[in-house]
Parts: sequence; C-alpha cells; structure tokens
Amino acid sequence: MKVLVTGCGGRLGKALAHRLAKSHEVTALNRESADLADPEAWKRIAARDFDVLLHPAAMASLEACEANPELAMRVNRDAPLALAKACQTRGRAMVFFSTDYVLDGSQPGLKGEEAPLRPLSVYAQSKAEAEMGVLDCGGAVMRVSWLFGPEKAAFPEAILNQALDGKPLAAVADKFSLPGFTTDLAEWVDVLLARGIPSRIFHAANPGDPVSWHDIALEVVHTLHQSGRLREIPPIEKQSLAGMPGFVAGRPQHTAMDTRELAAWLGQPLRPWREALRAHLRHFHGLQH
Ligand SMILES: NC(=O)c1ccc[n+]([C@@H]2O[C@H](COP(=O)([O-])OP(=O)(O)OC[C@H]3O[C@@H](n4cnc5c(N)ncnc54)[C@H](OP(=O)(O)O)[C@@H]3O)[C@@H](O)[C@H]2O)c1
Repeated sequence: MKVLVTGCGGRLGKALAHRLAKSHEVTALNRESADLADPEAWKRIAARDFDVLLHPAAMASLEACEANPELAMRVNRDAPLALAKACQTRGRAMVFFSTDYVLDGSQPGLKGEEAPLRPLSVYAQSKAEAEMGVLDCGGAVMRVSWLFGPEKAAFPEAILNQALDGKPLAAVADKFSLPGFTTDLAEWVDVLLARGIPSRIFHAANPGDPVSWHDIALEVVHTLHQSGRLREIPPIEKQSLAGMPGFVAGRPQHTAMDTRELAAWLGQPLRPWREALRAHLRHFHGLQH
C-alpha cells in the first residue's frame, strides 16, 4: 500500500512513518515539504500518489492555538477537511488523529467513542470540527492522548531528567486520562491498515484505570528506583489543574478513553499503560529492572 504520512517531524508522524515503512511504501511529509497553513500545500498533498493518508500533523500546543486561533483553525480544521474531501473524491482512505480534549471531561470514568463532546479550547474546537468533517467524507478518526515515545521528549522524560538531576518534582494530580505509547499506536495503525479502515471514531490509548500526570510521574520514579538509578524514591508534590499558571487554554478534567472497541476491531489486546511506559523507559533510557 502507498501510505502518505504528515507531521513526520513530530512524535507520532515519525513513529508511524518508521513502523509502516517495514510493510508499505511510505512517503513522509513534514512542515518543510508541506506547510498546512498554506491552502496551496493542501492541493499539492492531495495530488500525490497514495492509497492511505495518515494525518497526525497539527498545531498541537494548546497555548499556541489560543494565541493564534485563525492559524489554528486553518491548520487543525481547514487542512484536514480539504484533505478529507480530496481523499473522498479520489477513493482514498484517511485516518485523522484527534484528541481526548474534545470530550466532555466533567464526569469521572472511562469515555467511549459515543461520549458527548465539550471542547474547552481553540485547539479542542478545531479538532472537534475537523473530526465531524473527516467522518462526513468517509474518513476515520483516531483520538489519542498524552503521547510518549522515543521520537521526542514528553512528560515522562521531563520527570526522568528532573529526578536524575535531583530537582524537586511536581505534577498535576486532579486531571485524568490515559497515555499513549507511539510505538504501540503505530503498530495498531499497521494492523488497522491490514484489517480495513472503517469510517468511525476509535479511542486509542494504552488501557488501564484513569490516571493523573502525578500517577505517571510516580511510575517513572519507581522504575528509576527499581533500576538502581535512584537510591531513594523522591517525593512528588501534587499540583492542581486550576493552579497551573502556564495553562491559558481550558483543559478537561476526566477524559480517559475506553479502548475496548479498538481492541475488538484489531482482534488483539492493547498493552496496559504501565507495561508500555516501563518498556519505553527500559528500551530508550537504558533502565534495567
Ligand atoms: N502529544 C500529545 O500528547 C497529544 C495528545 C492528544 C492528541 N494529540 C494529537 O496527536 C497528533 C500528533 O501529536 P504529536 O505529539 O506527534 O505532535 P507533534 O510532535 O507536535 O507533531 C505535530 C507535527 O505537526 C507539524 N505541524 C505543525 N504545524 C504545521 C504546519 N503548519 N504545517 C505542517 N506541519 C505542521 C509539526 O511540525 P514542526 O515539527 O515543524 O513543529 C509537528 O512535526 C496531533 O494531531 C495532536 O494534536 C497529541
């Protein structure tokens, strides 16, 4: 299959291009080869020769979207809509990568694909509108959350580095989701390509009970301790979502996604988040335990 992947300078795009190149003919696009702020670039992407478009590229910073809503809407909503229409016209499949931040996070618990939406930020609004348009054009939507992987440092690396440097640790303890390991996501997409891509939403994360950033930070320091890299387990201060001064954009509180439908579609269990995080720390940060 000829697979076109956007956002290959980023975390998920890189992981997808790397994994799928093993079994498909992959063309990897980045901002330099296709700037999604430019409508002419949408036409150039659509004119390429491909069977499936995987579209993780996005303005993924909530604060950048809040500061420049016009650009955010163009890149995160208008570009995927134009690409979805072009894919529909030419009979090609498309997978658009969205976010758990579109969900109504007012109530605790795991959220299924049919859960109501309540975007609280420009970023979430742009993604929610793009989702609807992509589905209308027959594309698929994969919602992901709290990505981590070897391609680019993320929250686990921030905690790991601060802990190894002996710096004080703090993490938000009252916001809940589930993390997604890019290596696993890329594998699931590979299986999805083989099984067929339905026009629907999938919730894609490493499963478990809902966790906070504080829970993830604890897992990182416990793994460091067990591997002998930390002599003692350091305390981690609990922060509150409302008390984060840098968070200008609204963020939903409870958006952990129920991934059973994805597992059923793929015909395989998804690796739980603790196992995935430990595998990542072991393989990519050389921790033994
Ligand atoms: N990271 C998370 O925790 C998370 C959570 C939920 C959903 N998501 C979604 O998952 C997807 C992948 O996230 P990620 O972590 O891989 O994000 P990322 O590392 O920031 O990658 C996104 C890529 O999009 C590119 N991009 C931004 N503006 C562009 C433009 N105008 N034209 C072309 N490319 C542009 C960026 O290019 P540059 O490298 O040049 O900036 C970057 O390489 C995104 O759609 C994001 O919204 C991510």
